[in-house]
Amino acid sequence: MNYRHAYHAGNAADCLKHALLVLLLRALTRKAKPLFVLDTHAGLGAYDLAGPEAGRTREWEGGIGRLRAASPTALADYLALVPPGLAYPGSPAIARALLRPGDRLALCELHPEDAAVLRRRFRGDPLAQVHARDGYEAVSALLPPAERRALVLIDPPFERPDEFAILARTLDAGRRKFPSGVFAAWYPVKHRAPVRDFMADITARGIPDVIACEMLLRPAIDPARLNGSGLLVINPPYGFEAAAAPVLEALRAALGEEEASTAIIRLAGEDAG
Ligand SMILES: C[S@@+](CC[C@H](N)C(=O)[O-])C[C@H]1O[C@@H](n2cnc3c(N)ncnc32)[C@H](O)[C@@H]1O
Repeated sequence: MNYRHAYHAGNAADCLKHALLVLLLRALTRKAKPLFVLDTHAGLGAYDLAGPEAGRTREWEGGIGRLRAASPTALADYLALVPPGLAYPGSPAIARALLRPGDRLALCELHPEDAAVLRRRFRGDPLAQVHARDGYEAVSALLPPAERRALVLIDPPFERPDEFAILARTLDAGRRKFPSGVFAAWYPVKHRAPVRDFMADITARGIPDVIACEMLLRPAIDPARLNGSGLLVINPPYGFEAAAAPVLEALRAALGEEEASTAIIRLAGEDAG
């Protein structure tokens, strides 16, 4: 396990994932009923952009740094959750900020040092539980939840060559265990072929009601670069697709290069299967 998110926190891909996560959480906390959130690859929970790791790559400057400067209206809700200064919330901190008493947050992190930091951060929190375990395996183990409503965020490091295949398998297993759950999976776009294969795998599994939201900083031609990223969503909540379009456009305008683009791709309708 070589991947450490502290080098990448607040970059363009993080901003896309977190801005869309805010939309999903807002939509799912509109109903008064309790919600279970499972973050399978949780990381450290929050990041210090003044720290040595972020300072070495300075990736955040092309992400949250630029967004703060542009401050587009479509991203106001997300930006309000990122405090001024050099602290950046990860997905656990964002989810925690939007959950209500009675909701529940399960955070899985396999890296022992990161899991220890996460555990310290959430110690004594009545809503959050930290699991030092494999997040893929946790999807089947922790579903269905007692709450009967869930958002599952799967945000892998993509350091294994078979990560797309495991991701597709896990999403399929998860929705079989809990068909009404909302599943959101982040994926990198370096070049198109692996993403096309991933989407074909999802479609072939007959998973209904699937969309993918993407923002490319530049055309996805050079496979050595992270040219963009996407969030695949199974069972997107009502209104999510419409709300995602201006968010993606604001990200493109603030972060993208000349030929940057966005897309919302529908992989399967509600009745597919
Ligand atoms: C992209 S980072 C997560 C960032 C976090 N979701 C956020 O948005 O703030 C991926 C994390 O997954 C952890 N990880 C890698 N393989 C894992 C696995 N099988 N189960 C759980 N965590 C894993 C890594 O140590 C890393 O901290």
